[in-house]
Amino acid sequence: MKYLKSVIALFLVVVLLSCTDQGSPASSGINAPADKTLAQAAKFKIGCAVSVDLLRTNAAYLGLANKEYNSMTAENAMKFDAVHPEQATFNFSDADHIVNTAKGTNKRIHGHALIWHQALPDWVTNFQGDSAAWENMFKTHITTVVNHFKADITSWDVVNEAFEDNGSLRNTLWRQKLGPDYVARAFKYANEANPNCKLFYNDYGTEYSSAKLTAVINMVNDLKRRGIPIHGIGSQMHTHINHSNTMINSSLQQLASTGLLIHISELDIRTNTANLPTATYSPTVEKALADKYKYIAQTYGKLPSVQQFGITLWNIGDADSWIVLWLNQKDWPCLFNDKYERKMAYNYFYSGIQ
Ligand code: G3I
Repeated sequence: MKYLKSVIALFLVVVLLSCTDQGSPASSGINAPADKTLAQAAKFKIGCAVSVDLLRTNAAYLGLANKEYNSMTAENAMKFDAVHPEQATFNFSDADHIVNTAKGTNKRIHGHALIWHQALPDWVTNFQGDSAAWENMFKTHITTVVNHFKADITSWDVVNEAFEDNGSLRNTLWRQKLGPDYVARAFKYANEANPNCKLFYNDYGTEYSSAKLTAVINMVNDLKRRGIPIHGIGSQMHTHINHSNTMINSSLQQLASTGLLIHISELDIRTNTANLPTATYSPTVEKALADKYKYIAQTYGKLPSVQQFGITLWNIGDADSWIVLWLNQKDWPCLFNDKYERKMAYNYFYSGIQ
């Protein structure tokens, strides 16, 4: 009996050791050369969304942000609440830090996001005024922000997430106060402020909701018909390992049928889709994550090269992800683990972007 107990104990130890709880460093299979980076390997731009606080305080984070990518997006520092905290106050200090960091390694800088229903300061949600006052406030924000970055930012997410998951136009504060055509006017004002800027509509769920995908494509085609300046579509791709590859492929092809630039703008991949507190980053999970990253990279790479705006990863290490920090979910959605070591997902993504 004693022998049996020790065998069981040994077995349990082996099982537990095989289920690492963190994104383990890259293990078997495909391995990117240690002296190569994503930006060097890819045939299109590879960006990352960055936290300004981590750029300032975390040397490993800054090192990877500088080295691995050739495009940069501010995760939060260019949102309405960050740059326009009071009606008469614009504050670009955090955003400028990101711009200067990106310029330090000659990166493209993608602006995110001029108009969204989230990340709004209280003065906007409490704003009192007639429709002319709302229109002026809306236009002033867009014009001032685009103008501030005119020399450095060559593309913007002009409107973010205007649709509900069912494809209906979201009843946001902007729609309530400015009417449903606020989307078109946002693009018009952004273009007037910087005619050289590539202007994007950005949304999530197009890779798994055909209703959302159809709504985005219909709106984009309508804006094009009306001569509204729109140049690209951002498919955020905050996705899951169990979202259909067929739909991922089909959605990218359908978005590309608009003829616009296509940006996978916020890529991260969840594996703990049931948000189980007992989930572990097992070898099975590790491989499923890596396969999904590779599939998405390869599928994107099949789009017409003139429409490949690039793939932007939504943050760098697992511990920095909004999914972990703000959704408080146990997951490992990024290419680097919480020690900023390359995961198997990095190596498979690396092989898929070439
Ligand atoms: O900076 C403050 C800090 O001072 C304060 O102590 C803390 C607690 O209140 O909040 C911090 O601000 C947080 C901010 O992230 C910076 O970390 C906000 O509360 C939090 O709401 C914000 O979440 C961001 C979220 O957008 C909402 O703006 C996430 O980091 C960011 O990853 C997420 O990104 C969005 C894209 O912009 C649009 N697509 C979806 C994507 C995921 O939601």
